[in-house]
Amino acid sequence: MGVSALAALIVAVALASTRATGSPNFTLPPGAVYINPLEYNVLGADYAQWRTNDSFVGFNPTNTTPPFIQVFDSSFLDITGPDATIRLVSSHPGFAFAHEAPIYVPDLNVVFFSSNDGGPFGYSSWYNNSVVSMLNMTEVDIALASTTGNVNVPAQTLNLSDNVQMVNGGTGPYKGNLLFITSGRALLPPSIVLVNPNPPFNTTVLLDNFYGRQFSALNDIKVLPGTDILFFTDPTYGWLFDFRPEPMIPSQVYRFDPSTGQVRVVADQFVHPNGIAFTPDGRTAFVTDTGAANGLMANNQTYPATIYQYDVDPVTQSFTNRRVFAYTDTGIPDGIQLDTSGNVYSGCGDGTHIWNSQGTLIGKFFVNSTSAEMIFTKSGLLIFAEEWIYLVNIQAQGINLEAY
Ligand SMILES: *[C@@H]1O[C@H](CO)[C@@H](O)[C@H](O)[C@H]1NC(C)=O
Ligand SMILES: *[C@@H]1O[C@H](CO)[C@@H](O)[C@H](O)[C@H]1NC(C)=O
Ligand SMILES: *[C@@H]1O[C@H](CO)[C@@H](O)[C@H](O)[C@H]1NC(C)=O
Ligand SMILES: *[C@@H]1O[C@H](CO)[C@@H](O)[C@H](O)[C@H]1NC(C)=O
Ligand SMILES: *[C@@H]1O[C@H](CO)[C@@H](O)[C@H](O)[C@H]1NC(C)=O
Ligand SMILES: *[C@@H]1O[C@H](CO)[C@@H](O)[C@H](O)[C@H]1NC(C)=O
Ligand SMILES: *[C@@H]1O[C@H](CO)[C@@H](O)[C@H](O)[C@H]1NC(C)=O
Ligand SMILES: *[C@@H]1O[C@H](CO)[C@@H](O)[C@H](O)[C@H]1NC(C)=O
Repeated sequence: MGVSALAALIVAVALASTRATGSPNFTLPPGAVYINPLEYNVLGADYAQWRTNDSFVGFNPTNTTPPFIQVFDSSFLDITGPDATIRLVSSHPGFAFAHEAPIYVPDLNVVFFSSNDGGPFGYSSWYNNSVVSMLNMTEVDIALASTTGNVNVPAQTLNLSDNVQMVNGGTGPYKGNLLFITSGRALLPPSIVLVNPNPPFNTTVLLDNFYGRQFSALNDIKVLPGTDILFFTDPTYGWLFDFRPEPMIPSQVYRFDPSTGQVRVVADQFVHPNGIAFTPDGRTAFVTDTGAANGLMANNQTYPATIYQYDVDPVTQSFTNRRVFAYTDTGIPDGIQLDTSGNVYSGCGDGTHIWNSQGTLIGKFFVNSTSAEMIFTKSGLLIFAEEWIYLVNIQAQGINLEAY
């Protein structure tokens, strides 16, 4: 037996023993579940053992009661830390008050966010605007300190002016303001709007058209790190959810310079471009394509549920060298955020998924329902799951989203 054959035998024995025991050689946070991929590589003909044929329902082969931390690689423990737990901090059964557009304002220790903008679940339609709310994280911290269980801190509704219709994305603070992107409603245009984070929450619209043409239903926005230039996505979900007229422009990604007013396209060839994010050095961009989700029309799980990665051209800031970063196993990758170690978080059909910078899925915060977005706060990662907001007290830190 040669050296390499011996090495192969040792590896085989090691793999076999891992398969046999399945017990990890590391300590999991309380309630966390380790899914050793080697134990799940072979399924056989009975494909319904671990999940249904609906890709929007998650992979929970241990049938663990959600919410829980699902670990696919021990490196995920560097993100969670030893004591991470998922706790409910705010809820509103029957109303999808916590959908997307989270913005954390460190000075106030408050998070702003919007309700679902597609039908009765979000109290929103062609005739009804969605709802923007704020959650006071100081009050969340106080409530959590009083018990080891869940808490319910009420979110406060903001009363914004009528030029803010169907908030769907947000980032910042941007020059001290909330930076929201709206999908528009009926003939009221999609827009980029600044909102004062303090009373009276007054607003200023920065952009609501492309050379006189309305966007379809603007979705998500980020600032290129180190600049004050805005990048945003425009899918057709307003039409697909019946609150906007038929689209009149392709689904694409734009760059907008508020100081010159110039707006141009930096990427196209999407089904439904959705979440957007940058690495802190501003050299790499991520755009999610949620093509598998079609609003009120039937979903088609042969379409993308994919995070694409690009180089940001240093001169033009156009997005080049598109490649697949990750394909989600469940639902669609909606909002997207990065931590300071380069790990990528996206809100998917069963919770928050976390990939390392190479695109390997290393863990999930499994809540067993759509959780479109998340945001880092001083208290941990806040997960928006429609009727529920969860907080995970992880040790990873989010990248700085503040722009000046
Ligand atoms: C667990 O064992 C594997 C294989 O020996 C090793 O690569 C990994 O670093 C170990 N993890 C920890 C946390 O010790
Ligand atoms: C999934 O299975 C159900 C029940 O067997 C069937 O009605 C449905 O068409 C299947 N869906 C897909 C996407 O295959
Ligand atoms: C608008 O929303 C309210 C709840 O806020 C609901 O009672 C009403 O039915 C909605 N109207 C339409 C036309 O969707
Ligand atoms: C948040 O709650 C704390 C504690 O009740 C309070 O002192 C603070 O003023 C609140 N912040 C805002 C922005 O309402
Ligand atoms: C918005 O208006 C409602 C109803 O008048 C009020 O209860 C609420 O406090 C207002 N929100 C803010 C942030 O002022
Ligand atoms: C809100 O109003 C104040 C006072 O007029 C103004 O200085 C500020 O720029 C406004 N903010 C926004 C976002 O419109
Ligand atoms: C999904 O899309 C493919 C490609 O267009 C099509 O062949 C298939 O019939 C669609 N499936 C469903 C369930 O609509
Ligand atoms: C997860 O959600 C699905 C779909 O809503 C449900 O059928 C299933 O029972 C849930 N699983 C657990 C473990 O709660």
